[in-house]
Amino acid sequence: MVTGASVGIGRATALCFAEKGADLVLVDINAQALFAVCEEAKKFGVKALAFECDVTDEEKVNEVVAKANEELGKIDILVNNAALWRDRSRFEESSTQLWKRYFDVNVIGLYLCTRAVIGGMLERAYGRIINVASVAGVYGNAKMVHYSATKGAVIAMTTALAKEVTDRGVLVNCVSPGSVSPSNEEDMDYSKPSELSFMGRTGTDRENANLILFLASDDASYIAGQNIQIDGCRKKM
Ligand SMILES: NC(=O)c1ccc[n+]([C@@H]2O[C@H](COP(=O)([O-])OP(=O)(O)OC[C@H]3O[C@@H](n4cnc5c(N)ncnc54)[C@H](O)[C@@H]3O)[C@@H](O)[C@H]2O)c1
Repeated sequence: MVTGASVGIGRATALCFAEKGADLVLVDINAQALFAVCEEAKKFGVKALAFECDVTDEEKVNEVVAKANEELGKIDILVNNAALWRDRSRFEESSTQLWKRYFDVNVIGLYLCTRAVIGGMLERAYGRIINVASVAGVYGNAKMVHYSATKGAVIAMTTALAKEVTDRGVLVNCVSPGSVSPSNEEDMDYSKPSELSFMGRTGTDRENANLILFLASDDASYIAGQNIQIDGCRKKM
């Protein structure tokens, strides 16, 4: 199950999972783009379900997970990718409404999706949860204090939850991208020059998807409770 699967890292992750033969549950509020990704994924011969769903809507999230379990039997992997990040407000100009909305989507939404799937994972003693945080949650980004706070929370949720469930077979990890250039429909490897990394370029959607895929795989069977930065060696400004 991948949230925020319509575009960017979420879309790339969905398609990379499909390429490896995983059935998919795709969630997003952007229905049109989501259904297109779903059709794209099916070309790899996997089952793919797409649900227009706001991750902050508790009832809907539970409904989606119930329907997905009915159709696919179980959910083994959850990628909590949906988030808001584009607003750049100076701290003194930011509003309570903005802070609440960011926490609602980026933190509570992630909580709701995780809670909806984790019961089944614990019952089967198998699960992989990968949260998408950000370098903003580690170093903090100016004019994104609200966003940085939510991603710091996601990193803390990852390590704390891992301590509760690792010994029961559910491995929870986090990836923290630096700057990522959005791909278009043809090119998930799109990158452009960036002064924010020592590699001198942004990361691509596919590079992020590859890391998520690795953490979801059995090759990552001894990794839990980690936040892995994928940032081309970030300049910590
Ligand atoms: N792009 C970057 O430079 C960058 C850097 C660091 C971290 N990240 C993180 O990576 C993740 C993906 O970012 P991106 O830039 O690839 O994608 P994006 O921000 O372009 O898209 C996010 C997706 O989430 C969906 N979404 C937003 N609110 C939702 C909600 N309430 N319910 C369901 N879906 C919702 C959107 O419709 C969209 O499809 C996010 O968690 C973001 O914080 C991105």
